[in-house]
Amino acid sequence: MRALHVRRGRVLDPASNTDRELDVVLSEGRIVALGAGLAAPAGAEEIDARGMLVVPGLIDLHAHLREPGEEYKEDIASASASAAAGGFAAVCAMPNTTPVNDTRAVTELILERARAVAGVRVYPIGAITRGLEGQALSEMAELREAGCVAVSDDGKCVASAGLMRRALEYARTFGLPVIQHAEDPTLSLGGSMNESVSSTRAGLRGQPHEAESTIVARDIALVERTGARYHVAHVSTQASVWLVREAKRRGLPVTCEVTPHHLTLTDEACLGYDTLTKCNPPLREAADVEALREALADGTIDAVATDHAPHTPVEKDLEFDHAASGIVGFETALPLVLALVASSRLTLAQAIERLTAGPARVLGLPGGTLAAGAPADVTIVDLERAFTPRADTLRSKSKNSPFLGRAFCGRAMLTIVGGTIVFDGRAEPAA
Ligand code: DOR
Ligand code: ZN
Repeated sequence: MRALHVRRGRVLDPASNTDRELDVVLSEGRIVALGAGLAAPAGAEEIDARGMLVVPGLIDLHAHLREPGEEYKEDIASASASAAAGGFAAVCAMPNTTPVNDTRAVTELILERARAVAGVRVYPIGAITRGLEGQALSEMAELREAGCVAVSDDGKCVASAGLMRRALEYARTFGLPVIQHAEDPTLSLGGSMNESVSSTRAGLRGQPHEAESTIVARDIALVERTGARYHVAHVSTQASVWLVREAKRRGLPVTCEVTPHHLTLTDEACLGYDTLTKCNPPLREAADVEALREALADGTIDAVATDHAPHTPVEKDLEFDHAASGIVGFETALPLVLALVASSRLTLAQAIERLTAGPARVLGLPGGTLAAGAPADVTIVDLERAFTPRADTLRSKSKNSPFLGRAFCGRAMLTIVGGTIVFDGRAEPAA
């Protein structure tokens, strides 16, 4: 493998507090040197990064790759291409596939497919309960050994408090973080949007805020008892943010993530019955969006995670009530976060931290930094690049995004994984 010499970019590595023009040398899958005016190693490929931002490869804690079982929506190859085009060097794969990733065989299949694709890194997440049925715990030791980095029943909540207590105790013995999709089904009752003035106006059944926050409160009480590592997927409400902030203040091992769409849209987006705005948890109210933005800036929220959830028109071109929930996110995540920087809601360093070192820390993943010795995962970003996502240019097989046609400024130009270029957008026309 040729060494890479990334020259004269603005190197922004929040983990090492670096923000200045530097060269980065990558060799044998590692970052070997960082410095001004470094000599190129013999035979190295030179990448001119002048005028660009050089950051650690982005890490996504939450994605649905749909393989095995729903390859018509996405597969590991198309998901990898989409993630790489969005600047992600690593993605975590939620277990709600068919079959569910609740066994060694499924975990190994995912890892084998990811190896064959040789794109972004794929970290499987195993199920908490067998078949995501919320009844019996999965064999977590086996999942961990096969390569799962955490457990989650994402898409479904572990609704039983007693089962959640046992899941936390069990996962703790294997050092596996437990990721909760916080939604009390006896409160959400299949509501297809947020319960608010907007749901009344739309005439749609809503999910109240408390469907999320009561589970977060309950789980934090269980974390206090068990000491297990607990992570809240896609927090969407002000009350959840308050609960996590308070738990962190008390020193509990609690973390959380937010999606770009929950940081950007309110439930008023659902008033036109556009099923591309339907997601779970649902888009919330302006006060929630405001609280999420503040919590992302102050570090209460550790990471931005996409919840990349591909669906085709077969699942989306239906009445709002009947349409599937989910938004594809890999290719719009960085532009949406950069939009928050442009509107001064986040500093650039905070934005990059929540997409790199933040998520790496949450699950103890390698990468998330450009320090010498770290994996050679690097993303090169053009902050000035005009970018308008369109169905025909998205790499994902599925096009279910409410952000198609929106004009953004800034996108990933080059994604490098283990020293290999897996996405190169330099020759693409700006759009
Ligand atoms: O919007 C969502 N889509 N939320 C989930 O929790 C699951 C996901 C999916 O798998 O489609
Ligand atoms: Zn979820």
